[in-house]
Amino acid sequence: MTHFLDINKTDAAALRAIIDQAAAMKQARAGRPRGAPDDEQPLAGRMVALIFEKPSTRTRVSFDVGARQLGAQTMVLSGADMQLGHGETIADTARVLSRYVDLIMMRTFEEDTILEMAEHASVPVINGLTNRTHPCQIMADILTYEEHRGPIRGKRVVWCGDGNNVCASFIHAAGQFGFDFTFTGPEQLDPEPGFVDEARARGADIRIERDAMRAVEGADLVVTDTWVSMHDSQSSRERRHNLLRPYQVNDELMSHAAPDALFMHCLPAHRDEEVTSSVMDGPQSVIFDEAENRLHAQKAIMRYCLGV
Ligand code: CP
Repeated sequence: MTHFLDINKTDAAALRAIIDQAAAMKQARAGRPRGAPDDEQPLAGRMVALIFEKPSTRTRVSFDVGARQLGAQTMVLSGADMQLGHGETIADTARVLSRYVDLIMMRTFEEDTILEMAEHASVPVINGLTNRTHPCQIMADILTYEEHRGPIRGKRVVWCGDGNNVCASFIHAAGQFGFDFTFTGPEQLDPEPGFVDEARARGADIRIERDAMRAVEGADLVVTDTWVSMHDSQSSRERRHNLLRPYQVNDELMSHAAPDALFMHCLPAHRDEEVTSSVMDGPQSVIFDEAENRLHAQKAIMRYCLGV
């Protein structure tokens, strides 16, 4: 059984193979209509369940389209409409779904939910975001960086703002893909120390720098995300905004990065909050390539999980 639960739990060679296969598959279908099947149909005859306990645009559509391009059939399920949302255990849900489908992708709140699903399912489980991590997003980001600038190994990535679940998967990736990572944000919203220690133990240079201008000096990639994540309470909004305002990505901040630095945001963005529209729509921004690459990266992840 090969799950895709997190970047730090997946073998580094397998991660590299996923990125390379995603790039090759993207190139192979360049210029085709989105609904056209791939030449290869490695998921033909397979059924893929996509379960969402939180809202989604990119993850929902990219997994659905990607599975179909590979020949699978798909079903999109809302956690609230399942018995899962009415008291059936995760373990029983996992056992039942495993009798109907070949692969489960789940977006949920607590990490324990996805771990329990994976423990009791007899088919592979993919993490489509939890409160703690978002591994599929960062696989798409690595693919995006490398298609614009070549190997990410040895490059300097700077994360501005909240040390949230997307930031956590970037830190995992620093350890696995061998790039340097700087977090700049308020101490109250630091990333988990355990993730930082783990990436450092794998040889990555992970820095914490409170001064945003100093942090982005010479950066190859500047990344940010929304200041209030889906699992954060709306009552924390004002406090978070006050803490995070010095870490907004704007033209002034980007001018301190390397001249050929890229800008990424996993989207959805709150324009002119965590990032200005001028940066989002500017020449260094690759945000819509990132969104597209969710499709290609996840197709390779599904193939990895199913061994096809
Ligand atoms: N970036 C991302 O996961 O987008 P969605 O929430 O729209 O799926």
